[in-house]
Amino acid sequence: MSLTPIGEPRHKITVASLREKKLQHEPITCLTAYDYASARLVDEAAIDIILVGDSLAQTMLGYENTLSVTIEEMLHHTRAVRRGVKNALLVADMRIIDAEIPVTGHIGLTPQSVNVMGGYKVQGKSLAAVEQLMRDAVALDRAGVAGLYLEGIPREVAAMITAEVETPTIGIGAGPDCDGQVLVFHDILNLTFGPPAKFVRRYGDAAALITHAVQSFRADVVSRQYPSDGESYHLPKETRGALETVLERKRAMRR
Ligand code: KIV
Repeated sequence: MSLTPIGEPRHKITVASLREKKLQHEPITCLTAYDYASARLVDEAAIDIILVGDSLAQTMLGYENTLSVTIEEMLHHTRAVRRGVKNALLVADMRIIDAEIPVTGHIGLTPQSVNVMGGYKVQGKSLAAVEQLMRDAVALDRAGVAGLYLEGIPREVAAMITAEVETPTIGIGAGPDCDGQVLVFHDILNLTFGPPAKFVRRYGDAAALITHAVQSFRADVVSRQYPSDGESYHLPKETRGALETVLERKRAMRR
């Protein structure tokens, strides 16, 4: 197995190279990103797939669930992410048809169907549900999807699907036997304002970092510590001299 070290020149990730990773049993990495800055950071950290997930409804737009997000809003964020991505494969949720964005499948706990499923519940627990998930996975694979997201299903089911389909499976709350793993950018950075789901691992505390930075900025402005002279622009010497002469003349006329 060969992992691309972070910082080394990278090749563009393609649908074909992801299939190759699956064949070589090389884990595929995927994170969501919703804007230019996060897309650049994720891309430069050598993540394989950047997903503009409709989870942006909650993480970026403050909607209660993903049902309210519109195609226009998805496109707006996808365009921003596109500008920040160099090498990762860009995938966008919903019916995005422009810009060579591949279509992927998504089965299990699909947040778009939260009302039909009666809440955010692990799917595929009964035999009938497992068989239905297998049928859906095989149908999507035969239809030629560029990847298959498996969300919120028992690891045993995810392992069976992964072994059965040719397309790479990317799991979220689906155990370690998928071809790759995806997490939501805001979840791994503690930017979600609530308790994390069982499968979320926090890799940083951006909320604490941002809060500290914002509070420090406010305190510096209120106490006039910011900006300093060194953080200010200055007039060129000649202009300052000329300005002083003009002001002196005005003062003399007033006397
Ligand atoms: O919208 C999203 O972020 C997703 C992932 C969680 C798979 O669909």
